[in-house]
Formats: sequence, C-alpha cells, structure tokens
Amino acid sequence: MLKVEGINVYYDAIHAVRQVSLDVDDGEIVTLIGANGAGKSTILRTISGLLRSGAGNIYFMNESIRAMPPHKIVERGLAQVPEGRRIFLRMTVEDNLEMGAYTQKSDGIRGDLERVYTLFPRLKERRKQVAGTLSGGEQQMLAMGRGLMSRPKLLMLDEPSMGLAPILVEQIFSTITEMNREGTTILLVEQNAQMALSIAAKAYVLETGRVAMQGDARELAVNEDVKKAYLGH
Ligand SMILES: Nc1ncnc2c1ncn2[C@@H]1O[C@H](COP(=O)(O)OP(=O)(O)OP(=O)(O)O)[C@@H](O)[C@H]1O
Ligand SMILES: [Mg+2]
Repeated sequence: MLKVEGINVYYDAIHAVRQVSLDVDDGEIVTLIGANGAGKSTILRTISGLLRSGAGNIYFMNESIRAMPPHKIVERGLAQVPEGRRIFLRMTVEDNLEMGAYTQKSDGIRGDLERVYTLFPRLKERRKQVAGTLSGGEQQMLAMGRGLMSRPKLLMLDEPSMGLAPILVEQIFSTITEMNREGTTILLVEQNAQMALSIAAKAYVLETGRVAMQGDARELAVNEDVKKAYLGH
C-alpha cells in the first residue's frame, strides 16, 4: 500500500533522514520506533508531502506521491495525525471533527461523525465543548478522530500516547487496534516501543536517520539489542 524507497531529508545542513526505505501492506499495523531526534516525525511529514525528499521515491497505492501537494495526498486516502495534537483549540469538538472531513462530500459527514463517536464515546459527550478545555487524553482522541474524518485508507499516527497516563495509553492503543480491525491501515510512530511492538505486525527501528533494524514486531520485541536500547531492560 505504501512504499518508501531511499528517501533523504535535510533541514539546511542537517541530514535528518538517510536512505530510508519502508513498506506498509494493506491492513497492517506497522510501527516506527527510535530515540528522540532519530527522524521519525520527519519521515511522516515527508510521506504527507509537507517536506520533500531529495532522492528516492514514495508510492501510495502504486502511484508516486513524492511531488504531490499535501491535500492531494489526503484525498488519495493517506492522512496524518501530527505530533502534539494540533487541534483547533477555540473550536468545538464537533467543528474540529468536521474540519477533518474537508476532502469529503457533505452527504457522508454525518455517518463519519457517528463512526468517530462510536469509537470515542467521550467525544460525543463533549461535542459542543471548546477543544482547548479538553483534557490531554481527550485532545488526543480528538486528533485521532479528526484524522479518521478524511476516511483514510492509511492513517499515520505520530506519538499518540505522548504525555498520557498509563490507563489512557492502554485505551489509545486499544482504539488503534480497533480502527485497524475496521479496515484502516496504520503507520504508528511511538516512543512507547513496548506497546507499539505489541500491536504491530512489522517494525522499523530508526537510529540517527537510518533504519538500523527491521522485521517482525514480535521478534524485535525479544531482540536483545532492541530490549537494551528501547525497552528499558
Ligand atoms: N524544522 C527543523 N529545522 C531543523 N532541524 C530540525 C527540524 N525539525 C527536526 N529537526 C531535526 O531533525 C532531526 C530529526 O527530528 P524528528 O523530529 O524527525 O525526530 P523524531 O524521531 O520525531 O524525534 P522525537 O521522538 O523527539 O519526536 C532532529 O535532529 C531534529 O533536531
Ligand atoms: Mg517526533
């Protein structure tokens, strides 16, 4: 479904992403783990078309999206929930969700809202509340719900568990699994490597801009090098 081939991304003199290749198959959860500054968010932003790779290629559903503007990429069915939530704080929950549906025709929006509310009942209760007054966990749910409103085939999530209490982390991860069961393919960036590896099929371990390891998520979860570096053993 998504094929990234040898991308390189620079911020002026900083070479943030080096020759990165990765594959996400239809229906999978794939995770990208690695330390702070390894280049995870940069990779997602490049796939979304917000940053450009100087080399290589990016294919989504067999079409090159490397030079495509971000809104066209969303229209194709590839959406990103950015790091740090980035919701519209002065708007209500429901208005935020409707903003996520900007690529859709208006007739389907009601149904999409209901689907998000079924996944996140908390958002339904609070649909008229101003988003800036939601708790951190609720804001994360809203960011994920907004991502779903564009009906993505592939949803990229950048650290959805960041800053959340353990109970909410569990909830967010189980919702990710549920979204996947309902047919959304997921590319998940996480600091919480343990949890990410437990729900993913495949994983890529990123170190200073390069893919250092890749493979079956269950195998990586018991790999000694991964455990030492990322799982706190
Ligand atoms: N706008 C920018 N200008 C300059 N350097 C940047 C910019 N954004 C990121 N970088 C640098 O690029 C490298 C990769 O950053 P990136 O945000 O992709 O890391 P990350 O793996 O997502 O880290 P984290 O887990 O902390 O979110 C870092 O060294 C970072 O300082
Ligand atoms: Mg990041």
